[in-house]
Amino acid sequence: MTKGRGTVIPIRLFGDPVLRTPCRDVETFDDLLTKLCDDMLETMYQAPGVGLAAPQIGLAIRLFVFDAGDGSAPNAVANPVLSNMEGTQEDEEGCLSIPNLYFPTERAHFVRVTGQDVKGKPITFEGEGLVARIFQHETDHVNGTLFIERLAPEERRKAMALIRERELGWREGRIAGRWTDQLAERPERSG
Ligand code: NI
Repeated sequence: MTKGRGTVIPIRLFGDPVLRTPCRDVETFDDLLTKLCDDMLETMYQAPGVGLAAPQIGLAIRLFVFDAGDGSAPNAVANPVLSNMEGTQEDEEGCLSIPNLYFPTERAHFVRVTGQDVKGKPITFEGEGLVARIFQHETDHVNGTLFIERLAPEERRKAMALIRERELGWREGRIAGRWTDQLAERPERSG
């Protein structure tokens, strides 16, 4: 996988049924898959964000790419499975499919993700903090779950109200001036 080699693909937004679909396993590890990962990386960097899952570009397959911005190389994980979740963290989280909306979201502090790389070889990543958050957010995506479903009930109601008002084109008018903490651009929190 190489930065700068892929093509930017339009990101599917909240309301698109593909974002609610549990994805099927990746079974074929060929050049097309490598090309797809390059395209997903390019799309993620251009957004910009720190992670992107295949359903976000309309493909219901268990695949995500990530780059936590910590200097390590970008990577792809096919057929991700989480384990060894430890502790909790609560921090702002956002999603490229629900642009510019951020809410404090509780996640495990530490997590292990196992899966396969673009060649089909078994891989394992472990991480805490932001990296752990990315793994959980993106694995949720391939299971058809969005981060707003992880919010406390009151925060979730607030998120849904903001999303609906924005769909009605009220973003600049009615929403401006209230709940401004939740409306921002935080690419380092978006996946
Ligand atoms: Ni997301």
